Amino acid sequence: MTTGPLPWRNAWTEALYAERGFFRTSRPADHFRTSVHVGAFAGAIAELVRRADARRVHDVGAGGGELLRALHELLPGVQLVGVELAERPSDLPDAIEWEEELPQVMDDFVIANEWLDNVPCDVVEVDDAGVVRKVLVHPATGEETLGDAYSLQWLDTWWPLTEPGQRAEVGLMRDGAWNDVVSRVRGITIAIDYGHTRDDRPPFGTLRSYADGREVDVVPDGSRDITAHVAVDSVAATVGATLIRQRDALAQLGLDASRPPLDLAHSDPSAYVRGLAAAGEAGELMARGGLGDFWWLVTDTLGHGRLTS
Ligand SMILES: C[S@@+](CC[C@H](N)C(=O)[O-])C[C@H]1O[C@@H](n2cnc3c(N)ncnc32)[C@H](O)[C@@H]1O
Repeated sequence: MTTGPLPWRNAWTEALYAERGFFRTSRPADHFRTSVHVGAFAGAIAELVRRADARRVHDVGAGGGELLRALHELLPGVQLVGVELAERPSDLPDAIEWEEELPQVMDDFVIANEWLDNVPCDVVEVDDAGVVRKVLVHPATGEETLGDAYSLQWLDTWWPLTEPGQRAEVGLMRDGAWNDVVSRVRGITIAIDYGHTRDDRPPFGTLRSYADGREVDVVPDGSRDITAHVAVDSVAATVGATLIRQRDALAQLGLDASRPPLDLAHSDPSAYVRGLAAAGEAGELMARGGLGDFWWLVTDTLGHGRLTS
């Protein structure tokens, strides 16, 4: 690994995706929990796949294949493909295909949960004289310095910086990455991620690291995740996506976080227990201040998606 200070985008790319990078050597599920680890999420995605009458599903950034394993049970007859640069999990059912690179053409349904937040970006900061500069980072320590002046139309349009100390993660790289995915798809494409819009940009950015289930110092040394929230309005404008909060999308797909009626506990105790468990999962996936705040970016070239903002 390189040792000198590097622009954040280079250090981030090395840390996650180089030969000994974080996602090459460990599974996301060993370090953090995402929606795909909550059973009801796959049920909602399966419902959308059925409504779209899709025959094939690609999961981009499939991690350990958690979502695909669940869909395998729920959607017999639908072809399932993981696109993931980490190795195929050895215990994945044979029927699930596994590709290291994005196929040239993907139909009919593509989902990418918590993928865009891991697309490395330039990180910039306003110096004491008011000049926007590229932030450089030492990969082994996370120590930062400011590099050359940085100017980009994307910043002026989507994330204007004015005050010394303000920072941004430049979303142009995410716009390009998602445009590349969407341009290969005939059907529905959904990116799901935490993010912000022009109305609520975080003044100091959101660069974070996670390892072993907790937040740790941000160091691009390959031992931890490096992530930043997605400027979802910019990505949506680039690809013409509809933006929907996860809680609203899941409600449209039939998830309900309300508890089952108490009299069910007497008339059908096991149905009551199942209802309680389902409500608990829906509650986690739809929570304000939690997974419910996530954004779904939905494009639908065939008009089958039937999700509204
Ligand atoms: C945060 S994890 C999300 C995993 C899973 N979708 C989930 O929700 O738990 C991001 C995953 O995307 C994969 N990934 C990132 N860039 C990729 C690329 N260009 N091609 C394939 N996989 C990629 C990483 O290896 C990692 O497993």
